Amino acid sequence: MNLGVLVSGTGTNLQALLDAEARGELGAARIAIVISNNPGAAALARATAAGKPALAIDHRGLARMAFEDLLIAGLREVELVVLAGFMRVLTPHFLDRFAGRVINTHPSLLPAFPGMDAPGQAIAAGAKESGVTVHVVDASVDGGPVLAQVAVPVVAGDTAETLHLRIQAAEHVLLPRIVREIADGRIVLASPGPPRAE
Ligand code: GRF
Repeated sequence: MNLGVLVSGTGTNLQALLDAEARGELGAARIAIVISNNPGAAALARATAAGKPALAIDHRGLARMAFEDLLIAGLREVELVVLAGFMRVLTPHFLDRFAGRVINTHPSLLPAFPGMDAPGQAIAAGAKESGVTVHVVDASVDGGPVLAQVAVPVVAGDTAETLHLRIQAAEHVLLPRIVREIADGRIVLASPGPPRAE
């Protein structure tokens, strides 16, 4: 199963996927391409260092549909799209092409704390725990069907940064595990259907 990983930033979740693949722990999945909307993303260097094709498609100055058309072209061999710190909202124009086969990792126990800075939201709310959610992406922001969650405690003195680091340690384990379970057929996502008629 060919994976396309979309990234915008540091790429620690991408690194967890690369490392899992190198250890033979991604089952039938292989990372086929890494694409970033941010040409300066450190994640792109991680992909290149691992010998993976890495592509920057700068969204700035592009209409949303034109940007998504370039993504779709870059992902033409891909059967599962993994959003790993990808900071652009995707529209049905993109999502329909992949028919339910786009997943995301989000640093909270959804439906709590959707959107930006979920660890900061958890701290501001005085939450006793937060965590990580891997979910199917639909047109809502962080609202698609949940595949798996792991809770992480909030400890005294936590800042958004320290909580996020603890959450990321959990997502670096959870995301590769869910990718493997999808690739091995233990989690069944929608199969790609014909493109929807316009
Ligand atoms: C992760 O915590 C992910 O849940 C969120 O953005 C962060 C990306 O971190 N969507 P990284 O680029 O994988 O290090």
